[in-house]
Amino acid sequence: MENRTIVDALQWRYACKKFDPGKIIPEDTFQRILQALNLTPTSMGMQLMKFLVVQNTEVRKALVPHAYNQHQITDCSHLLVLCRESHVTQDFIDEYVNRSARIRNQDVNSSKIKGFKKMLESANLMSENDRVKWMSSQVYIALGVLLTACAVEQVDACPMEGFVPQEFDRILKLREKGLKSIVVVPLGYRHEEDPYQHLPKVRRELDTIVEYI
Ligand SMILES: Cc1cc2nc3c(=O)[nH]c(=O)nc-3n(C[C@H](O)[C@H](O)[C@H](O)COP(=O)(O)O)c2cc1C
Repeated sequence: MENRTIVDALQWRYACKKFDPGKIIPEDTFQRILQALNLTPTSMGMQLMKFLVVQNTEVRKALVPHAYNQHQITDCSHLLVLCRESHVTQDFIDEYVNRSARIRNQDVNSSKIKGFKKMLESANLMSENDRVKWMSSQVYIALGVLLTACAVEQVDACPMEGFVPQEFDRILKLREKGLKSIVVVPLGYRHEEDPYQHLPKVRRELDTIVEYI
């Protein structure tokens, strides 16, 4: 579409309830979406998250009953599970500090980098509750970037909190991976029979949701 604005793209998108199982996202499109997802900004740039692409059809079938039988899980082209790290480990911090210093050509032993590392380590000074909230809220920023990237690429998606995280974690063996599932996002192409695609958007008027002060 010529001159398609970001608003056109976001009007086009909707939470897809029924995917066409015969339509698969081309690999180059999917890779662009993943690259966009990886460009999500995060607190201190730490990226305490991981994005799982569940390709195994048997595993997907096993997940459906733990997602309130939402069949987008099996009908979609690509199933993403956005996860947070379970803990902020010293290994995770060290890897980030070293990678960042290498990419930006900085000396890891400089006082600047040492100060940076100390700041990152302060994540473990938070209470467990605060840290979990902090990590989870950043996964939701990734969700926003993902949904926007999909809209730009004209790929359909359905953000889903309607699932049982403990069951997803068990089936996907997330404890062993040091991860917790936060939000599930099937991607693909809308089925022509999905009536939701024709519904007008329900949003507040701009002048009730934005206030200039
Ligand atoms: C965090 C989050 C969780 C959601 N969980 C579900 C879900 O489990 N199943 C579903 O069909 N839609 C789910 N939705 C979709 C919302 O109902 C939908 O985005 C909202 O009604 C606005 O409609 P639109 O996205 O079609 O514009 C979720 C949306 C968000 C942002």
